[in-house]
Amino acid sequence: MIAYLNGRFLPIEEACVPVLDRGFIFGDGIYELLPVYSRRPFRLNEHLKRFDSNLASIRIGNPYSAEKWRELIAEMIERNHLEDQSIYIQVTRGVAKRDHAFPKNVSPTVLILSNPLVTPAQEQVQKGVSAITALDDRWLRCDIKAISLLANVLLRQQAIDVGAAETILFRDGYLTEGAASNVFVVRDGVMLAPPKSHLMLPGITYDVVLELAAAQGLEHAVRGVSEHEVRSAQELWMTSSTREVLPITALDDKAVGGGTPGPVFWQMYGWYQEYKAKVMRA
Ligand code: PDD
Repeated sequence: MIAYLNGRFLPIEEACVPVLDRGFIFGDGIYELLPVYSRRPFRLNEHLKRFDSNLASIRIGNPYSAEKWRELIAEMIERNHLEDQSIYIQVTRGVAKRDHAFPKNVSPTVLILSNPLVTPAQEQVQKGVSAITALDDRWLRCDIKAISLLANVLLRQQAIDVGAAETILFRDGYLTEGAASNVFVVRDGVMLAPPKSHLMLPGITYDVVLELAAAQGLEHAVRGVSEHEVRSAQELWMTSSTREVLPITALDDKAVGGGTPGPVFWQMYGWYQEYKAKVMRA
């Protein structure tokens, strides 16, 4: 795999950063992860826009223009030979003597990685996956895609430890999101999604699903969803750039709806795959 680090493309094994990088010391940085299908980045402009506003929100100047990011990502896709890739980009505040205060006169560290894109296996889509629940004990800026992901890592691991795929989070009795995904709920045929706020990451896939629902005339509402509504839902789905739209068919060892992916899921799944194919042909 070829990586990009601070102006150079090089084999990943040779890509090194100093131990005083503030990403390593403080988790002081922002990332994006975007899927590439048939060598085309999916929703690139949206990912770059979110990245730029996240950098601004933690007061790191974006080191590159959107045009330069697009060029670098295109070159990464070319240098790595897979048709489908997941491109990871990360900017940290840079290298400086350890001190909480922002350092002066340092350049941000820029890293781009490519990995094989692993989307859910057909069997997982057909059967759905299981999830557990937990209290959302993260900080109050979950809208920032920060590299400091300790809380998310611990929450996701709780699911892995019991053989589940995701941990669904509740704060003050309301659904926020998953440890590394957004969550949709279907009740009485209506798709429900929690509104964007500082309590969840504004997912790019979340936006796609809402756009598709609107375009296809699927009845839906963006509003607070209570824990009770999640636990008694007919359908639950998780969405993310790598998991796309994936049905959750068991929650805390109880079947969701009939215990198989529901009819609204299959509609959305079809629209999503169609949309992807259309974008890839564009
Ligand atoms: N995670 N919420 C959280 C906390 C996430 O970490 C993610 C994605 C999402 C979904 O966002 P999107 O649809 O833009 O991928 C929601 C990525 C995939 C990750 O950290 O690997």
